[in-house]
Amino acid sequence: MSRKIYVFDTTLRDGEQVPGAKLNLAEKLEVAEQIAEMKVDMMEVGFPSSSQGDFEAVRAISRKIGKDVWIAALGRAVQADIDCIYESIRAAENPLIHIVLGSSDVHVAKKFRKTPEQVIQMGVGAVKYARSLLPQVQYSLEDASRSEFEYLWQTIEAVVKAGATIINVPDTVGFAIPEEFGKLIYRINDRLKNLDPQVMLSVHCHNDTGLATANTLAAVKNGADKVECTINGIGERAGNTSLEEVVMGIQLHEAYYGGHTTVDTRKIYETSRMVSATMGLDLQVNKAITGENAFAHSSGIHQDGLLKSKDVYEIMDPQTIGAPAMEIVLTARSGRHAFIHVTQRLGFDIPAESVAEIYQQFLTMADAKKEIYDNDVLTLLKNSGVPSRGNSRELWQLVDYQLKVSDGLPSATVKLARGDKAVEMSQSGAGVIDALYGAIMEAVGAPVELIDYRINSLSRGKGSLGKVTAQIRCDDQLFSGKAIEQDVMRASALALINAVNKMLLK
Ligand code: KIV
Ligand code: ZN
Repeated sequence: MSRKIYVFDTTLRDGEQVPGAKLNLAEKLEVAEQIAEMKVDMMEVGFPSSSQGDFEAVRAISRKIGKDVWIAALGRAVQADIDCIYESIRAAENPLIHIVLGSSDVHVAKKFRKTPEQVIQMGVGAVKYARSLLPQVQYSLEDASRSEFEYLWQTIEAVVKAGATIINVPDTVGFAIPEEFGKLIYRINDRLKNLDPQVMLSVHCHNDTGLATANTLAAVKNGADKVECTINGIGERAGNTSLEEVVMGIQLHEAYYGGHTTVDTRKIYETSRMVSATMGLDLQVNKAITGENAFAHSSGIHQDGLLKSKDVYEIMDPQTIGAPAMEIVLTARSGRHAFIHVTQRLGFDIPAESVAEIYQQFLTMADAKKEIYDNDVLTLLKNSGVPSRGNSRELWQLVDYQLKVSDGLPSATVKLARGDKAVEMSQSGAGVIDALYGAIMEAVGAPVELIDYRINSLSRGKGSLGKVTAQIRCDDQLFSGKAIEQDVMRASALALINAVNKMLLK
């Protein structure tokens, strides 16, 4: 059995330092509950001495979820900060005081204007005081990766003797290189485990040169027991190590790293979306593991390979992280094989003699719209008079919609068709999308919950195409629908209908 690697989430502390991502108490509680559901081992939820609001949020989280997960809070190596941390986390079952103090020359000489020995004594005093309050104390040597090794070790030895139970080695400014950072962790671990094998060795990496995940994994390979990370890699400047990347990296290569985590990976996708929406921080589409395109395949060669066998181009099943199934995105680069696959999934068998002509029409459409989604394929096939098999008659199509926004209470009327049946429904809502989606949900009558709604412009100017993504949940499964139109309201309606149809086809 491989050793356990402890996962420490700092989305609500380092992650929340992102400009504009500040959350109120209710939002923090919601995010903390979601992260706890993912079964991380430890969670850092604030810097309580920074403001009354932060103090109260840390205290509320400790009370609410302090039984499920270790709760940590951060402060400087001064008594007032440590008192504040203690008061805010004491209700948790496993509270952890986290003290940070710089160890590099620039921090010691320029930030503190103290001698190296004076800084060590500050750290020792802080740890001793923290240990008089609680049994678990983490000491972070800020800017460790730029610190002189013997001074770094001298500090670690002193604070461990003073009672620190976790030593955290941060690459605070994202300066480290994986090979060197791995060697540093190896050297520290070697001495630390001789000094006191019970003390945990942790790492905390920043992503200034895009190496946070690589540095963290190099540290795991070289003996780190604990990794600090954030959902979606959010954090100060270019961010922190992304939790989903490290956890899945370790899972994919357990034998290589000789370790495993106990994170419930099936909660990763939902947690990532939730953090992104609550903090108002969009994910880049190609973000590893959780980006919109992480399991989308658009090149003709790849689509063809995947349709023969998924493992040709897929190293993990999207369901492992709770993401919707892999998606074949139809574009002008898609081959016939992929196009026919989509038409069959929708319940159509194109007669052999018409395939070439309809595929050509598809290419013309794809050149104009960039990406082709289920509603486009359904329209194309309907206009070409292709007969449908049974299940396509179960799919919904948008016939018409009207929006009224002038009187302050927006309302929407939608007309949908399913086979020979037509349904018309009207709803009002807090906004146009609320009204439109309310009317569609009512019309389709399915027990679905809207999880995510996003809208992006695909080009510049007022005539640009709008791409909408709507995600719904039904019986704990997620279905994602997308649509591209110049009229973004129409794209919104079609994206939701595409998601509902995916659910019906399942
Ligand atoms: O980046 C850093 O050094 C930190 C410490 C508080 C661990 O965030
Ligand atoms: Zn940090």
